[in-house]
Amino acid sequence: MSRRGRFITIEGGEGTGKSTLIAGLETHFLESGQPVTVTREPGGTPLAETLRGLVLSPPSDTRWSAMSEALLVYAARRDHLEKLIQPALAGGQNVICDRFADSTRVYQRLGGLAPAVIEMLDDLVVGELQPDLTLVLDGPVEELMARRKARGGSDVFEAMPLDFHKDVRQGFLDLAAAHPDRCKVIDATQPEAAVLSDALKAIEDAS
Ligand SMILES: Nc1ncnc2c1ncn2[C@@H]1O[C@H](COP(=O)(O)OP(=O)(O)OP(=O)(O)O)[C@@H](O)[C@H]1O
Ligand SMILES: [Mg+2]
Repeated sequence: MSRRGRFITIEGGEGTGKSTLIAGLETHFLESGQPVTVTREPGGTPLAETLRGLVLSPPSDTRWSAMSEALLVYAARRDHLEKLIQPALAGGQNVICDRFADSTRVYQRLGGLAPAVIEMLDDLVVGELQPDLTLVLDGPVEELMARRKARGGSDVFEAMPLDFHKDVRQGFLDLAAAHPDRCKVIDATQPEAAVLSDALKAIEDAS
């Protein structure tokens, strides 16, 4: 699958400021005349958004196994890549995606799925279309959860205990350390403008 634009993914736990950063990046790209497509995972296409609903809000009293959940997420990801991400990149758009495969790595691993299984799926589904750059928003869980709570809303992941969110944070830090070429960790506790400026510097450094 060919590409001309840059593929940038934004990762991090709940309430780390991903959506806020993406809004800032979109404005910056548009104001500086760089074509940009903003999307999210799971989701981004009608079918993938339907799968998102099943993953994040399963019917009451039901849970997916880690394997089933990973298969749903990767089915959604394939649809997203085929119909939205790859065509946009090939058409010269920069693509900014709110969460991508690193979230699957972190959350499904915590759910008990072997890393080797996730990497097999990733090779099959994402293959060569790996992100060019991944920005990982990081900060103390208590501080960031308090910020998110103030905003409201809830899903199955947010309802998990504090220790789970600490494991999520560590999972993203471990991934970033394992892929220093692709991943850049950003201090999410900074004011919005400083987070945006760190992100823009990382994007510039990577191009
Ligand atoms: N740098 C910042 N400083 C202070 N507050 C922030 C900052 N970034 C985001 N916020 C606030 O923190 C809350 C969570 O931010 P945001 O929704 O962007 O996070 P998120 O990572 O997208 O969350 P989710 O995982 O729920 O999608 C919001 O109320 C937002 O306004
Ligand atoms: Mg968000």
